Amino acid sequence: MLALAHLPCARCHGMVRRFDVGVSMEDVTRIHYDIPASFFPKFLDPYMKYTSGLYRTGEESLEQASLNMLDNHIDFLRPYTCPHILEIGSGWGALLKRLIDTKNNFQYLAVNPSPVQNQFVREKVGLKANILESRFEEATFGAEKFDVIYLIGSFCHLRNQEKQLEKLSELLAEDGTVIIEDPFFISEALYQDHAKRKETFFVQETVFGYAHIFPFPRFLELVTTKGLSVRTVLDHSSSYKRTVDEWLRSLGKMDRVEYPLIKQFCDYLAIGQMGWHYTIANYLVSLKKKRTQAIRPLSGSQE
Ligand SMILES: C[S@@+](CC[C@H](N)C(=O)[O-])C[C@H]1O[C@@H](n2cnc3c(N)ncnc32)[C@H](O)[C@@H]1O
Repeated sequence: MLALAHLPCARCHGMVRRFDVGVSMEDVTRIHYDIPASFFPKFLDPYMKYTSGLYRTGEESLEQASLNMLDNHIDFLRPYTCPHILEIGSGWGALLKRLIDTKNNFQYLAVNPSPVQNQFVREKVGLKANILESRFEEATFGAEKFDVIYLIGSFCHLRNQEKQLEKLSELLAEDGTVIIEDPFFISEALYQDHAKRKETFFVQETVFGYAHIFPFPRFLELVTTKGLSVRTVLDHSSSYKRTVDEWLRSLGKMDRVEYPLIKQFCDYLAIGQMGWHYTIANYLVSLKKKRTQAIRPLSGSQE
């Protein structure tokens, strides 16, 4: 999901209607992702990555940018011979499809609450689509440990993110890596300033049912208290902005009578575009287990 700057209230109303009464907030989160899967191929790239591509030169097509980002994620698997992968929030199967196309040895499990997406992925990639249909918060994994855990555009959807960071740490193999790609508020002050605004509520609660965009400095502090440490951080906001420009271009060419949701999508995406490098940034973060022992002082040191 994207976050935003300030949006005119009138726009909210058009988008609220499809989430009207009689639907629990939990279901609403699913509804955004349960829109019939035939809608999304009309504007997403062929792998159907519903998050940022990676524009290295600025000359790439949307498809190439999505492949760049997926390959960038897959590069984190290099240290492992036959990596045991957990993907939280697998969407329309972009990462799994690219894994199948480029790697031989891996074990894959996804946890994703949307039945529509999960069915789509099973049809698209077949038997390798090992998906647990659940929210991550309720999912249980027994004694399983994972080498690499991906959250690509899904961290913001997890309830009680502090507790989920603890769960991630427990699920991670000793030399494992957690990869999070998601928008964050750039500062605590911007988060405080925007958290209670109707625009933030609109995107986080109304459009997505539940989402919480974390202030990045607080996230960095928090992970260290959950047994994890930050290894790399990259800011891909400009790539996300460009990706959404491409989606908007394709949505603009679609028939609005056949696809009445288009106006809502375009309004929401256009609003989100105002936030990049202003209130929010799209960060790609890698986390490892925190060292449990301090480094020994050098021999001969006075300490
Ligand atoms: C923005 S989409 C990203 C999908 C995919 N990772 C991609 O990059 O195309 C967010 C995904 O998070 C999933 N999701 C939402 N709430 C979740 C939860 N509580 N636990 C696990 N996944 C969740 C949605 O079903 C959706 O597939």
